[in-house]
Amino acid sequence: MKSDIEDVARDEYYARMALRGLTPLWTVMAETVPPEPVPACKPAFWDYADDIRPALLEAADLISADEAQRRVLILNNPSLSRGATRTLLCAMQLIKKGEIAPAHRHTQSALRLVIEGDGAYTAVNGEKTYMRPGDFIVTPAWTWHDHGKDTDGSMIWLDGLDIPLVNHLGATFSEEYESPQVAESRKPDHSRARYGSGLLPLEPVATTHHSPVFSYPYEKAREALELLRREDEWDASNGLKMKYANPVTGGHVLPTISSFIQLLPKGFVGSPYRSTESTVATVVEGRGRARVGDQIYTFAPNDVFVLPNWTWASLEADEDSVIFSYSDRATLEKLGLFREQREPCRVVA
Ligand SMILES: [Fe+2]
Repeated sequence: MKSDIEDVARDEYYARMALRGLTPLWTVMAETVPPEPVPACKPAFWDYADDIRPALLEAADLISADEAQRRVLILNNPSLSRGATRTLLCAMQLIKKGEIAPAHRHTQSALRLVIEGDGAYTAVNGEKTYMRPGDFIVTPAWTWHDHGKDTDGSMIWLDGLDIPLVNHLGATFSEEYESPQVAESRKPDHSRARYGSGLLPLEPVATTHHSPVFSYPYEKAREALELLRREDEWDASNGLKMKYANPVTGGHVLPTISSFIQLLPKGFVGSPYRSTESTVATVVEGRGRARVGDQIYTFAPNDVFVLPNWTWASLEADEDSVIFSYSDRATLEKLGLFREQREPCRVVA
C-alpha cells in the first residue's frame, strides 16, 4: 500500500517530468493502448431535402463558383472541428449553367457521387466525363481537375475526400492551374472506354495508386445489383454490398478511400455490424432507417450519415434502397488494421 509520502513524491515527479515534456506511460496506459478502438467521432446525420439542398440553393444566389473556387458546403460532424470523420471529409457542391469551377490539384484524393441534375462535367487531366445522378466519379490525388456546366439548370453532387487524413499526416500540397480549364487531352470518357468495360488494352497497363477509370456510371452498378439479387444471397448485415474496383489490380479505386454500393431489398433488417473503418453513407434510392450507436436515423434519398469506427450499426429498408458509401478501409487494409465484427461477437481479422 502506498504511503502519503510516496503519493506526494510521485505527484512531484510527474509535475517535474511534465515540464520536461516527459510522460510516464503508466499514468496514461489505458488511454494510450485501450483494449479496443475508442470511436474517433460520434454518429451524424444530414437531411438533404430540409437542410443541405436549401442551403446550397441559397449559396447559389450568394456567390459564384468562380468567386468561391468551389461552391461547396462542408458537412461537419458536430463532434469534430472539421470533417465528417477523423479521416474523411464530406461536402456538397452546386454548379450552375455557364459556370466553371477552376482547375486545381491537390495531394488529397477525391470522389464524387452525383446527387441531382444533368449536364455538368468533371475533367481529370483534361479528359471530361459527363455526370448523371448516381454516377461515381474519381479524382485521384495530384490530378488536375475542373468542373463545368454548359446546359440549363443547376447540378449538385457529393464530394468525398481524405482531407483530414492527409492533413494529419502533414502531406498536403495544392496548386492552381494557369487557366480555369485544362485543355482537352483526350476525348470524353476515354478512360472508361479503355479500362471500364471489363476489357483492358493488350499492351501492359501501368499499375498506379488509383483506378485508371474516372467514371463509374450508376446504370451499370444498378444493373449489376439487380442481376445479383436474383441469386438471393444476402449478407445478414450489409445486404448486397459491392466495392468499386480498380479493374487493373482488383483493389480499391483510391489508395486511401474505399467506395461501395449496396442494395437493401424492401423489408431488409440488417444485423448489427461494426468495423475499424469510418464510413460516410448517402442514400441513392429508397427509404428506411440507420441505427448507429445510440442514434436512429430515418433516411430518404440523398440524406447523408456517418458510421463511426467500431460503433455498432444496422440498416433497415422500408422499400428497395441503394446506399453509396465511402470509408478509410483502403488505408486500414494496407496497414493491417482492418477488423470487423458481427453479432454474435465473431471477430474476423
Ligand atoms: Fe479539388
